[in-house]
Order: sequence, then structure tokens, then C-alpha cells
Amino acid sequence: MSLTIPHPLIAKAAHLLKTGGLVAFATETVYGLGADARQETAVAKIFAAKKRPSNHPLIVHLADIEQLTDWAINIPNTAYQLAQHFWPGPLTLILAKHPSVLDSVTGGQNSIGIRLPQHPLAQALLRAFGEGIAAPSANQFTHISPTTAQAVYEELGDQVDLILDGGPSTVGLESTIIDLTQSKPRLLRPGMINIATLETVLGEAILVGNQATNIRAPGMHHLHYAPRTKTQLITTADAINAKLPAKTILVIYSEILAARKDISLVQLPTNPKEYAQHLYSTLRALDKQRYDQILIEIPPQIPEWHAILDRLARASGVVTNRKRYTLSE
Ligand code: TXA
Ligand code: MG
Repeated sequence: MSLTIPHPLIAKAAHLLKTGGLVAFATETVYGLGADARQETAVAKIFAAKKRPSNHPLIVHLADIEQLTDWAINIPNTAYQLAQHFWPGPLTLILAKHPSVLDSVTGGQNSIGIRLPQHPLAQALLRAFGEGIAAPSANQFTHISPTTAQAVYEELGDQVDLILDGGPSTVGLESTIIDLTQSKPRLLRPGMINIATLETVLGEAILVGNQATNIRAPGMHHLHYAPRTKTQLITTADAINAKLPAKTILVIYSEILAARKDISLVQLPTNPKEYAQHLYSTLRALDKQRYDQILIEIPPQIPEWHAILDRLARASGVVTNRKRYTLSE
């Protein structure tokens, strides 16, 4: 990806962060709402802008792996193994937090989420700023994450001091989150780096799903990542013959369904990587079109689609405990 970044805007953004402002910026996953992770009042602005509960921890974004020891302690070898393969990129590691980290960043927990993003704009900002940027997705709490600068503006308006537009996010779904604070690695949120790939690099199995502990894991809130329009899932077999009420839109990936000419269809790509890229922008666009209902064809229940299945389940209000690949329960 090549991108020419106007230097004055990056310098301005870094200055805004230093002076306690909020800067939204492109990353390869989704847009982030950034603040200086060392400034209590700046971090408080993130929670206010998103209307996010204050016990919900934030991810700290860094430019360089050498900064890791300023934020985390007792860093296991597995963290370096994963970092070497996947950073910079769409992977967040949960590690034991350094004592200097603000409680407001970690939601009062002993652990911290860290990510080195790959997007050149995010990297330029992080390098210019030189410190950790706390950044959740730049949306209102429980809404769909933004994958464009326009979507950030629709979500947060003038509450953000500056939005750095780096074009549409190329991954399109939030990062994979792995908890490395226990004896075995655990997947807390599936992302487009899938569990099988992570297990190959680590050479060990990764536990899946949230433990019944007090860890405030991502997306546990009912209707996380949800459009406002009523959204439901449907199998391909059911969708072939379903009689659908007017003002329903069917979101499909399979070519069989494209043959239906009697209903309103949106065709998403059949390849999971491209599907993920377009999912949130499609749901956001459909949400504006006043349909009574959005129906989404259930994609294949295999590892490459795991993160997509997870977000679809949440968008439709199905509560999952993030078991491997399935939508049942
Ligand atoms: O792709 C991403 O991860 C994007 C971009 C901007 O980096 N960020 C993002 O942040 O999705 P957010 O805040 O919307 O989701 C991060 C999730 C939260 O749901 C939070 O519960 C979880 O990460 N998290 C953060 N720190 C944690 C911790 N110490 N323990 C468990 N979960 C944590
Ligand atoms: Mg979020």
C-alpha cells in the first residue's frame, strides 16, 4: 500500500495528542479513536465520546516492539514469537501490565492489550507521537466499528479534534485478541489472523472462549457490533425458497442465491478476506436505507470465516461464547 502522508497533518495530530486531544486515525483493521495513554484526562475523553462504560479496557498502540517493556511486565516468549510473525498487524496481545499504566486504560485489571498496527498512517502518527496511543474502535459503544473516515465522522462528529483519513481499512474487522497472561494462550476475540495460523506459529493449542472469570473480555455486551435495523441470519438452503416480506434486504455471498431475481439482494464477495473488508461498510450503508429487516446468509462454518461468523452472530443478537467457528448456541 502506498500512501503519501502530508507531514503537517501528522505533526498537528501528534501535537493534539500531546495536548490531551482526541485524534481518530486509520488502521488496517478499523479506525481507532486515539488519546495519549499516559494522560488521565485524555483517556477520560475517549470514554465520554463513545459513551463506553469506564471498566471496559482499551488497547494501547505502539510504533515499535522495543516500547513493549514500558507497558508490560513478565512478557512470555510466546508474545515475542507472535509479535515476530504478526506485528505490525491485526493482532492484539493481552499481557501483564506495567505498574505505570493508568487504571483507566486497563479498566482496573492487571493486564493490558497491546497492538502494533500496520497501516502507514497509524505508523506515521505513532512515530511522530513517540508514546503509546490508547485507541478503541472509533464508534459509539455497541455500534459497528468504522472502516472509513466518513463513518468515524457519522459516529463521533465534532467530539474528535482531528480525523486522519487513510482510506478504507483493508482488513475490515477488529484485531484478533490473544490473552497470554495465563499458562495457556487463549483467544478472546477472533479476527482475520485465524486460530489455526496462530497455533502453527506457537506450536501449541490455543484455548477458545471466555473463562468464567472476572476478565472483562471483548464484545460480551449483547448486540455488540450491531446495526440499528433488525438483523437476522438465514441458511443458504432456507434462503433459496424463502418468501420474504417487502422491505427486506438479503445479504448473500453464494452464487446460487444471486439467481433470485424476485428479492432485493446485496452480493458480498465469496472470499472471506474480501467479505470482511466490505462487511461493516455494507451494513452501515444498509442501515441508512430504511429496510424493515436485514437478512444475512450464513457463511461456511470453517476457520477462515470464524471472525466473520462471530461478528454476524453479534450483529444479529445471537450471543456466542466464541467457540470455534460455529453459530449454534
Ligand atoms: O483492531 C482493533 O483492535 C481496533 C483498532 C483501533 O486497533 N481496536 C479495537 O478496540 O477494536 P476496542 O476497544 O473497540 O476493542 C478492544 C477490546 C475491548 O473489547 C476490550 O474488552 C479488549 O479489547 N481488551 C482490552 N484490554 C483488555 C484486557 N486487558 N483484557 C481483556 N480484554 C481487553
Ligand atoms: Mg470496539
